[in-house]
Amino acid sequence: MKRLVMDMKKINNGTLAKENIDDILELYGWVNKKRNLGGLLFIDLRDRSGIVQIVIRPENKYYALAETIKNEYVIKVKGKVVERENKNEHLKTGDIEVELLELTILNESLDLPFDLNNNNSSEETKLKYRYLDIRRDEIKNKLIIRHKIVTSVRSYLNDLDFVEIETPILCRSTPEGARDYLVPSRVNNGSFYALPQSPQIFKQLLMVGGMEKYYQIARCFRDEDLRADRQPEFTQVDMEMSFIEENDVMSMIEGMFKKLFKEIKNIDIDVPFKRLKYDDAINIYGSDKPDTRFAMIINDITDIFTKTEFSLFKNCIDNNGVINAIVVKNKANVFSRKDIDHLTDFVKKYKANGLAYLKYNEGILNGSISKVINESEINKIMETLQLEENDLVLIVADKKKVVKNALGALRLKLGKELDLIDNNLYNLLWVVDFPLFEYSEEDGRYYAMHHPFTSPKDENIDDVLTNPGVCYAKAYDIVLNGYEVGGGSIRIHNKDVQQKMFEALGLTDQQINNKFGYLIEAFKYGTPPHGGIALGLARLTMLLCNTENIKDVVAFPKTASASCLMTETPNSVSEEQLKELGIKLR
Ligand code: AMO
Repeated sequence: MKRLVMDMKKINNGTLAKENIDDILELYGWVNKKRNLGGLLFIDLRDRSGIVQIVIRPENKYYALAETIKNEYVIKVKGKVVERENKNEHLKTGDIEVELLELTILNESLDLPFDLNNNNSSEETKLKYRYLDIRRDEIKNKLIIRHKIVTSVRSYLNDLDFVEIETPILCRSTPEGARDYLVPSRVNNGSFYALPQSPQIFKQLLMVGGMEKYYQIARCFRDEDLRADRQPEFTQVDMEMSFIEENDVMSMIEGMFKKLFKEIKNIDIDVPFKRLKYDDAINIYGSDKPDTRFAMIINDITDIFTKTEFSLFKNCIDNNGVINAIVVKNKANVFSRKDIDHLTDFVKKYKANGLAYLKYNEGILNGSISKVINESEINKIMETLQLEENDLVLIVADKKKVVKNALGALRLKLGKELDLIDNNLYNLLWVVDFPLFEYSEEDGRYYAMHHPFTSPKDENIDDVLTNPGVCYAKAYDIVLNGYEVGGGSIRIHNKDVQQKMFEALGLTDQQINNKFGYLIEAFKYGTPPHGGIALGLARLTMLLCNTENIKDVVAFPKTASASCLMTETPNSVSEEQLKELGIKLR
């Protein structure tokens, strides 16, 4: 019988070592660099595993052919491994080199549009020629780590008896909150599919289907504004389980992260992770995904000013606003007036109307508001904030949401700029007890903070309709170094509670039916209690690779304007295609 398994005999160049001395081998790869040193030709032969040096002496019959070789040519070399006279400590294979016996040029290459050994070219060029950029260790190694993460996650979940199941890509739109990518139907002109923003509804239906433990490395699509940690199409490690509660999901994920960190970073992380209530996260860090690697917390100093005569603070309190401060320890002297002006401009971007400052020097507080607040207030500030020599106090007074947002962002900016963050730390934490609803001043109505299938806390079930503002959800986010790497919830499995939820969201029966009729129908047939979570695979990979750019860990990423520079996507399509779809462009 013919062997079905391919004979993988290709040698990994980057693994050759002293043990191989005297071996005669056939090697393949790309010419990373060619040098001529006093007549001797040296070729750095690169494959995915690394680089090995090939030597060609002038008397070698392949010398003339070797001279014609340029960078990035693909070659096959037969050669003998010998010990190097001058070892190269910077190269893994630096103890040996390969004396060329035979050379075949398998393919030529044009001069590259950018130098692979030098990281100076523009991101645009590198994205246009992404397949070349992938040849660089910097990208290649990250893709390999991503693969290792997926492998580790799969084995973890398989061991726990999860079943990997694919769900459709051509869907009805799912209510995740972002804009859908739509796909016009040819067979049903005028109708559209939506690409899934997540497999949320399908995974819940799999629970109704009795699958109990599901996972999927799932592609998701969201037409939203892009940022350094967002792509329009991205991958989730998506999971759902039946007969579980919040703690079960969290401890399952903690086990997964423990294994991941050990296997990928060789780090033993502590479990369980810290848990921070959503309200505390906002109050202390001004963010629901706080970076807790550095302190600089937000202090509420509103109480100090309840009787103040300083009109700005007084008005703020009269209008139900708050006064909050952060302290930059021992750095007052490095901030000039101009620096503070820049910080003021920065908080204004977050809708704050200004930034007050005070510097603590030799027992005295001086700064923009030191003349307009009284001595008792000054003393209370010093005491409450436990000021020490050379501390800088930055204060925002405004509506609570604005204050937290602005100081949360300022805290992060200062943390980075003042180098207060230890980049070797991995701070994992759960943010829990999210509000069930979010009120939109603009629209004058409540929205689901996660999605409409998120279960309220048991004690809030009766408040859902009557007092939505006080309800908390069985929802949790996992946060790593200030990034939301995952989120999920326990779902509503009771149809009456689900109905209340829809009503609280102001959905009419017709809207409910139109949007989720099939789900409501399914919930009538014995739905188990269930819940789950989804991790952002690229975000997780990004953090485990110590990069802040999500593009680095995506093989073929899209730019901020959601286009692929390599394939020039999106592109226009022919009139004929549009006609078939029944589409006329406006
Ligand atoms: P959520 O919307 O929080 O939850 O998404 C889960 C995780 O996916 C990642 N993520 C993204 N990564 C890259 N680019 C994007 N545009 C992007 N958007 C989200 C984040 C996020 O934490 N169905 C629910 C999960 C559940 O309830 O089980 C969901 O999709 O890391």
